[in-house]
Amino acid sequence: MTEIAREVERRRSFAIISHPDAGKTTLTEKLLLYGGAIQLAGTVKGRKSDRHATSDWMAMEQERGISVTSTVMQFPYRERIVNLLDTPGHGDFSEDTYRTLTAVDSALMVIDAAKGVEERTKKLMEVCRLRATPIMTFMNKLDREGRDPVELMDEVEEVLGIQCAPVTWPIGMGQRFRGVFHLLQDRVHLFPGGGERVTEGEVIEGLDNPRLDEAIGDQAAELREEIELVAAASHEFDAEAYRRGELTPVFFGSAINNFGVEELLDEFVAHAPPPLPRPATVASGKDADPAEGEARTVDPAEEKLTGFVFKIQANMDPNHRDRIAFMRVCSGVFRKGMKVHQVRTGKDQRVSNPLVFLAKDREGAEEAYPGDIVGLPNHGTIRIGDTFSEGEKLKFTGIPNFAPELFRRVVLKDPMKNKALNKGLEQLTEEGATQLFRPLVNNDLILGAVGQLQFDVVAARLKDEYGVDARFEPVNVSTARWVESSDPRELERFEKRVEEHLARDGGGDLAYLAPTKINLDLAMERWPDIDFRATREH
Ligand code: G4P
Repeated sequence: MTEIAREVERRRSFAIISHPDAGKTTLTEKLLLYGGAIQLAGTVKGRKSDRHATSDWMAMEQERGISVTSTVMQFPYRERIVNLLDTPGHGDFSEDTYRTLTAVDSALMVIDAAKGVEERTKKLMEVCRLRATPIMTFMNKLDREGRDPVELMDEVEEVLGIQCAPVTWPIGMGQRFRGVFHLLQDRVHLFPGGGERVTEGEVIEGLDNPRLDEAIGDQAAELREEIELVAAASHEFDAEAYRRGELTPVFFGSAINNFGVEELLDEFVAHAPPPLPRPATVASGKDADPAEGEARTVDPAEEKLTGFVFKIQANMDPNHRDRIAFMRVCSGVFRKGMKVHQVRTGKDQRVSNPLVFLAKDREGAEEAYPGDIVGLPNHGTIRIGDTFSEGEKLKFTGIPNFAPELFRRVVLKDPMKNKALNKGLEQLTEEGATQLFRPLVNNDLILGAVGQLQFDVVAARLKDEYGVDARFEPVNVSTARWVESSDPRELERFEKRVEEHLARDGGGDLAYLAPTKINLDLAMERWPDIDFRATREH
């Protein structure tokens, strides 16, 4: 086995998906506790009460008690190296979250046991389904009264359309919460009560062990009965079905009490997939467009470096307008100071000061392997979706751009600043959270976003970083679709007939801006040979 293959085998890269307040931040902290050595990168992400502000933009983040930026954390656990890609919890930044999900190999779903499946979880689950991402489930807050565990699993199965296989089972809840039973190991782990430390809690081997009756009294008999029912009525854990994304192993616990987390982490490192081969296309000739080339699957153990950019983050320091592009390594080894080839521009770049997100005990090491994330500083030359290689004209596929749902016309207060506005908008929209549309028939600048908050962020940053005072006003657009056709003449006819609804996005692609949903439906009906897409692949 080559060194790369060995490193690939050790890696587990994942993200946590949840509805806000389910306990993602808390669980992240506890997972990192087990890793022991922590390196936080990107931003100092603390509890809501003590987040550090490093710019006005961050101050706004703090004010509103949300995290706009993502964080990459790496920690060793047992024989593995785990990469946890944090995603912004606030719904307005869901585009960012969606793309982060393209950079991981599996996900962890956190559900508040009192609330069950909530709105954002449903949306994120849809995204995971696009790539059949394997998902483990953590039912949180068992220290409080919640819903019946059987009912919770039924809801996940019905609403999210994935089979549930309980791996641990709760013994009571709220005041009566006594611990969890591990179905695969036939072992009870008693809840020792609250605490910030990694608490142990008594472990009792075997459901039939008389020690269990001593420890929890009547609840022991209740548990035995329940387990009998659960075993008969629910799905059995099946590692293959999990890896296919058809079944989710379910764990119960309390993140804040650090309980049930170790069971989760143990099964996670045992069963979650290592970095997998990824689909790409390769240019057929020297000057050909790789996006239109032949399909090729990139194996992570290949010797040559490949990777793609899934996120761009403006630097926290407003005096230096450089930005960090987050690249997931897909194959080969990334070494500090190496030359990489940016496929879109055809240019080679030496990356002398990359951010490599490593666990603390690996500091000093300057290599990143498949599944790891590397931060590439740049001044706006790197875009979301960019592929890097050691020279191969390759493009990774499947990094989606979602159609925005909110639109505003950008209005400049000082017309002299038009140039700065255009530049600012171009650069900010390249980060991917918002999208810029230029109508074919006028000089408007229309900004599309997935959430209202994004407009505020753009306005604040235009002022801060580009010295431009702009405001946003309503515009008669309610939804957008990227349009394409395999029939160029039909597309031309379409362009002429509906010109007043068409615009070019930041990348020059054609989009249909519909004033109403009905208008869109009619247009789609009228133009059957035109593809209207809600997502555009980078
Ligand atoms: P999020 O990142 O998914 O938005 O959730 P976060 O971890 O911030 O948790 C949301 C709230 O739920 C927090 O309370 C947190 O303390 C609480 N919580 C997390 N895990 C558990 C648990 O296992 N049991 C109970 N009872 N509560 C839990 P908060 O009061 O909103 O915030 P804070 O002031 O404690 O930070």
